[in-house]
Amino acid sequence: MSVKPEVAVLVGSLRKDSLSRKLALDISERAAGHLACTLVEIADLPHYNQDLEAQVPAPWQRLRTQLAAAEALLFVTPEYNRSIPGALKNAIDVGSRPSGRSVFNGKPAAVISQTPHKLGGFGANHALRQCCVFLNMPLLQQPEAYLSGTAEMFDSHGKLHSHDTAKFLDKFVQAFAAWIARIRAPAPGEA
Ligand code: FNR
Repeated sequence: MSVKPEVAVLVGSLRKDSLSRKLALDISERAAGHLACTLVEIADLPHYNQDLEAQVPAPWQRLRTQLAAAEALLFVTPEYNRSIPGALKNAIDVGSRPSGRSVFNGKPAAVISQTPHKLGGFGANHALRQCCVFLNMPLLQQPEAYLSGTAEMFDSHGKLHSHDTAKFLDKFVQAFAAWIARIRAPAPGEA
């Protein structure tokens, strides 16, 4: 197990100028002292279809290998129609199968939802949490991360210029790092 935990970051948007991606990149940089974050791409995954397990598509295998190697997961997602984008749900479905070989099982995770509008993507955040319960992922509970008005937070180079958000994200990263450490700590009597 590495000293700095390997964290796979899944971004719920496929858009080139995605605000979620900008946030994910900012957080990965911000967390570098505590966590080794890698963005794991999901755009090329064929839709989940159990028939394809007979000859697993290369992008599925790539995703499963990358996620299996990670110690923790960070989801950064927009909200689509008060839920999570289909592309992110598809990535979750692909990673969760074949049955009994889910790459998510038991891994600590955290969720950040964002929107250029209001309500912070609350619906997406909690729809994702619902998946994580079934996936048996211990989720960071506090601080909750519902980011609103995100289009105003970045400069023309895509760099975060909101000091309040930066301060919040520093706090979030510290809490997530502490959460991962807590989950990875051996239980009494172990090790
Ligand atoms: C949206 N958007 C949106 N926003 C929101 O706050 N709640 C919602 O339910 C929805 N629903 C929704 C559905 C679909 C299909 C699209 C394309 C968009 C707007 C969304 O927050 C906005 O486009 C963000 O910029 C998307 O995130 P990225 O791509 O910037 O990361």
